Amino acid sequence: MRTPALTLLAILGAIAGGAEAADRDVTAHLQHCADCHGADGRSSALPANGRIAGQHREYLVYILKQYRTGGIRGVNSGIMSNAVRHLDDADIEAIAQHYSTLP
Ligand code: HEC
Repeated sequence: MRTPALTLLAILGAIAGGAEAADRDVTAHLQHCADCHGADGRSSALPANGRIAGQHREYLVYILKQYRTGGIRGVNSGIMSNAVRHLDDADIEAIAQHYSTLP
């Protein structure tokens, strides 16, 4: 059973955002990603979209933030910038965590 002190710590932690990324439910976002990258993150249907499953978590966080700020410019980068525009940092970290653990 949880002591009140531990519960308080958990609440403070959630407010501080410490464990927030890990707990964030990004299921709806992942379905959106799957539209173009496939449910397995391997872009089986659209290989040009890049394979995102099994990438390093740090790389995914970096590249998604780059797309979000428009730091990457290419023929198709606008598609990705639109896809991640509405995500906050915790969303991106949770999404990166998800794809980095896929085979
Ligand atoms: C509307 C289609 C579409 C959606 C939705 C979409 N993507 Fe993409 N994604 C692309 C395309 C197209 C590219 C290649 C962009 C380029 O050429 O710069 C790409 C590239 C990427 C890359 C870079 C791949 C590499 O090899 O470096 C990552 C990572 C990525 N997407 C992750 C995601 C995630 C995570 C989501 C969901 C939040 C998402 N994408 C949603 C179409 C999409």
